Amino acid sequence: MLSLHRFLFTFLAISPLAACHRSFETTVLHQFTSPSWAENLAVCDNGDILFTMISPSASLYRIANPQSSNPTTTLVHTFPDVESLLGIAELKPNFFVVVGTNASGVVAIPGTGILWSVDFSVSSSSPLITEITALPQVSYPNGMTALPENDSAVLLADSTLGCVWRIDIHTKAVDIAVQLPQMEPPSTASTPIGINGVHATQDPFGSTVLYWSNSFETTIYSINIDGCTGAMLSGQQEPRIRARAEDGYLFIDDFAIDSKGGIWAAANFNNTVLYASVKSHILRPVVGSENSLLMAGYTSCCFGRRSGTDNVLYVTNSGAEVYPVNGTLTMGANVVAINV
Ligand SMILES: *[C@@H]1O[C@H](CO)[C@@H](O)[C@H](O)[C@H]1NC(C)=O
Ligand SMILES: *[C@@H]1O[C@H](CO)[C@@H](O)[C@H](O)[C@H]1NC(C)=O
Ligand SMILES: *[C@@H]1O[C@H](CO)[C@@H](O)[C@H](O)[C@H]1NC(C)=O
Ligand SMILES: *[C@@H]1O[C@H](CO)[C@@H](O)[C@H](O)[C@H]1NC(C)=O
Repeated sequence: MLSLHRFLFTFLAISPLAACHRSFETTVLHQFTSPSWAENLAVCDNGDILFTMISPSASLYRIANPQSSNPTTTLVHTFPDVESLLGIAELKPNFFVVVGTNASGVVAIPGTGILWSVDFSVSSSSPLITEITALPQVSYPNGMTALPENDSAVLLADSTLGCVWRIDIHTKAVDIAVQLPQMEPPSTASTPIGINGVHATQDPFGSTVLYWSNSFETTIYSINIDGCTGAMLSGQQEPRIRARAEDGYLFIDDFAIDSKGGIWAAANFNNTVLYASVKSHILRPVVGSENSLLMAGYTSCCFGRRSGTDNVLYVTNSGAEVYPVNGTLTMGANVVAINV
């Protein structure tokens, strides 16, 4: 890890724009007025970005042509009966599932979650939106991921109960897929948030790996799961610690894994992009900082999918609503592209 990290810093240090780690090129793709909170995002197979809003309403937006000089952002839909929209997962091309909930402050109100499907295969501007099921069993629905080998189920993180739910989108069965102490809110957490972001991916050997962040432990864990059912494999070892933030960071929100296995994590309350290479276990700051609005309240990130965009990290920001920069500064939510 040190070599890649050093390489990055060396490269930046000799680039004319370089000034320590803040020299990555960033482009604001869409800016909201305050107060607002962008929470999560997914990249469609045509390269467009879909992102969810926690406030001012439970809305899904689409950014068309994010790599062009004038990307266009349109409201896809505002979801009824919930105040906030959180996780989003792509089950197959043009078919997404989103989850919403009511909340009090930054904590969800247990039992108010609802899951919807958003099917763009009919139309990219007016998709077919269907309520899948209400989620009375779920306390705090948060990050969501598809299963690599099963497009009829999603895995949903429950930040308060400390588990991952599996929801069958056809039968609407809701069951616990994985529940581990490493998913629970730690006793030191100021609010009851443990597991937050979840991403299931297939490794080069065909095994399915479930990664998750535990926010107040500032740790990214992984464990092998069954790629069809989402269940833990029998005889499974303890979860692996894939990365942990260096000292001083308060909270890891969502994260993304790059094509080399590096982890890019959202240190929301510290307004900072953290990075750990595949051999590293330490997430260190690379973009933004405690005293800057560049990554104000950074919530989530996702890499581009089109050729030539696998080094573009798209991020959602919440505008530092919870911990204002320098004690008083907040801004509207935004979506930013970072060339990493
Ligand atoms: C969420 O809160 C709204 C009021 O803001 C209420 O109308 C709605 O029924 C609540 N939703 C659920 C699922 O309880
Ligand atoms: C996909 O997941 C659903 C819901 O858990 C399950 O009923 C189904 O058997 C799974 N499919 C496969 C191929 O395992
Ligand atoms: C992160 O945020 C907390 C709370 O504002 C602060 O105490 C801490 O110093 C920050 N850490 C860094 C590395 O900026
Ligand atoms: C926050 O305060 C520091 C130290 O005074 C200053 O350098 C920085 O520019 C301030 N941040 C913003 C966004 O104004």
